[in-house]
Amino acid sequence: MWPHSSLIVALSGLLSLQALASPTPVEKRQTSTISNSVIFSPPSDAGWVDPRVLYPRAVQLKSGALIATWENYSPEPPKVYFPIYRSVDGGASWSQISKVEDTVNGWGLRYQPFLYQLPVAIGSYPAGTLLIAGNSIPTDLSKTKIDIYASEDDGITWSFVSSVASGGVAQPVNGETPVWEPLLMFYDNQLVCYYSDQRDSNYGQKLAHQTTTDLKTWSSIVDDVHDTNSYAARPGMPAITKLPNSDYIFAYEACGTDGCRVHYRLTTNPLGVLSAPSYTLRSTAGSTTTSSPFVVWSSVGGGNGSIILSGGSASNIFVNQNLGDPGSWVEHTTPQPNAYARSMVLFQDDDSKMLIIGAGRLPPSSTNYVSVSVVDLEDTIGL
Ligand SMILES: *[C@@H]1O[C@H](CO)[C@@H](O)[C@H](O)[C@H]1NC(C)=O
Repeated sequence: MWPHSSLIVALSGLLSLQALASPTPVEKRQTSTISNSVIFSPPSDAGWVDPRVLYPRAVQLKSGALIATWENYSPEPPKVYFPIYRSVDGGASWSQISKVEDTVNGWGLRYQPFLYQLPVAIGSYPAGTLLIAGNSIPTDLSKTKIDIYASEDDGITWSFVSSVASGGVAQPVNGETPVWEPLLMFYDNQLVCYYSDQRDSNYGQKLAHQTTTDLKTWSSIVDDVHDTNSYAARPGMPAITKLPNSDYIFAYEACGTDGCRVHYRLTTNPLGVLSAPSYTLRSTAGSTTTSSPFVVWSSVGGGNGSIILSGGSASNIFVNQNLGDPGSWVEHTTPQPNAYARSMVLFQDDDSKMLIIGAGRLPPSSTNYVSVSVVDLEDTIGL
């Protein structure tokens, strides 16, 4: 039994009047989403080195501006640097505002940038200072060094802060001694720098962290993940985020022993990851994802909110609404293609909106570009 068509017209008239009278839900419905929008693609004929761009990172500043950077394989000289792009319209348009250049080694800033805005003052650096940690590596890849630079003007100008760790040749080969992949997080009055470390002769690679209370001097090394059963194990690419029950989820790739499948640990102490139980990330559909995890938490999705994890092999995101319970990972599609070391940012004023940034695949690749999607998590998860 369907109402007469004139009734439908009357009803729809009423509905649109109601929509006008209550702007909040209408605005929410109008949240603009962005699908794989290209923000930078290197010129094809200007000597850019394979894979052109890779490994993007982004952050939303307290001002609301989005800042992004990536590995940038521009022709040398000059030495490679981390480009700094900004969007002030929620990710729709981007322009370059600066670049972070190596001012201490003469090598360039080559691999694995990470952006972080200080939530509180540390040492002489005020709250709101924008930090970038990254791997300074010479053109011949003979050395690696995790250095930190700071900007006190939201990314316009940069200066060297300190160096966390120095290692050997930038080759992911057991027996070599590089350091890789820094990630910064504030915890308990200190800044933590997590990274991958090949300098310990007991392990092909391990995950470790060092801490600082002044941004200048760094503590001794504490292991986060190492495999006492297998020298071949190469746990890598640390990613961590806080959950509402005050647990932390610490995700990593299990290379060497498990095909770089993404594993994770749950712990109340982000400085004590080593003793925490570990799990393989596996969706309820049975899928796993391999390499380069990134993980964030959003309040949407029920009483526990949602953990959102991205792995390098999947366009889909893996979502867990049960605080990391290993049987509760559900895959959801995104418009953002899979990429090596994709990352995500939740919008501060509305954490149902999430930016995903990707920059293509590991070499060989002559087609990599940097692109972003902004998804509505409620629509993505199907709430
Ligand atoms: C939150 O997660 C816990 C742990 O898995 C689960 O027992 C609980 O039912 C979840 N709560 C809600 C509201 O989903």
